[in-house]
Amino acid sequence: MVEAHISLVTGSARGLGLAVAKHLAARGDRVHVVWRSSEASARELEELFPGRVHRADLSLADDAARLVSDIKAKDGGLDCVVHAVGEYQASSLERTSAQELRQLWLSNVETAQHLMQAVRPSLRQGLGRLVLFGCAGLAGLRARRDAAGYTAAKSALLVLARSWAVEEAPFGVTVNMVSPGLVPHAAASTDTKDPSLQAKIPAGRVGTVEEVAAAVAWLCSEASSYTSGSDIILSGAWKL
Ligand SMILES: NC(=O)c1ccc[n+]([C@@H]2O[C@H](COP(=O)([O-])OP(=O)(O)OC[C@H]3O[C@@H](n4cnc5c(N)ncnc54)[C@H](OP(=O)(O)O)[C@@H]3O)[C@@H](O)[C@H]2O)c1
Repeated sequence: MVEAHISLVTGSARGLGLAVAKHLAARGDRVHVVWRSSEASARELEELFPGRVHRADLSLADDAARLVSDIKAKDGGLDCVVHAVGEYQASSLERTSAQELRQLWLSNVETAQHLMQAVRPSLRQGLGRLVLFGCAGLAGLRARRDAAGYTAAKSALLVLARSWAVEEAPFGVTVNMVSPGLVPHAAASTDTKDPSLQAKIPAGRVGTVEEVAAAVAWLCSEASSYTSGSDIILSGAWKL
């Protein structure tokens, strides 16, 4: 019998992270989920992922370390890590304060660094899959009139993902990114529901959380062992 993977999905109180966590659980993984401020979701999460619900603020390195040590105490190791944290802000640089820019960097880049430092030893011993979330339109490092600070932070995260992919390849760990276009869900940014943006999608429709989860699940499988440093764009050909 194949041993169930032990997986951690952050940003999993709602949206894409929750969809990924459900998908991995449905295929048989032992899935650990994390919430930070969505206390109202904690009971529902406990029903879906009994005994594997954690509270952590991943902008704090100590919280990331404690999270991983709690998972190891429960299940002994960690095979797959999916990091779906990353705040969005839809403003131009002119309307973005230094404090807001720092917050976008903290939420999108530093949380990933804290998590990576905490999970690296476990990933080297387990299946070794790390998946990060970018956004459509990173290729070519183009200018952005809106969401400039957010996109700059995601671009930095892509460079980190590729660098970690190179560093970890000798240890059998893969590091990849998935980059959604517009994927609405109950708590998603209003931009994902903006008809004028949706009209620009060549495929003629927005993406679904299930489509994103299926791509992440493939990256979190044995089948993807030779794929590392990639950025899988799920945007219906938008922002190419
Ligand atoms: N939805 C889209 O269309 C879209 C498009 C492009 C890229 N993305 C990216 O895909 C990822 C997931 O998107 P989403 O729409 O599902 O995001 P979301 O609705 O903003 O949910 C993200 C979750 O992250 C958690 N979180 C935020 N900061 C945290 C921290 N410091 N420590 C621990 N948890 C934290 C929040 O938990 P609490 O609620 O408990 O605070 C929240 O539930 C993000 O990286 C986003 O940038 C999404």
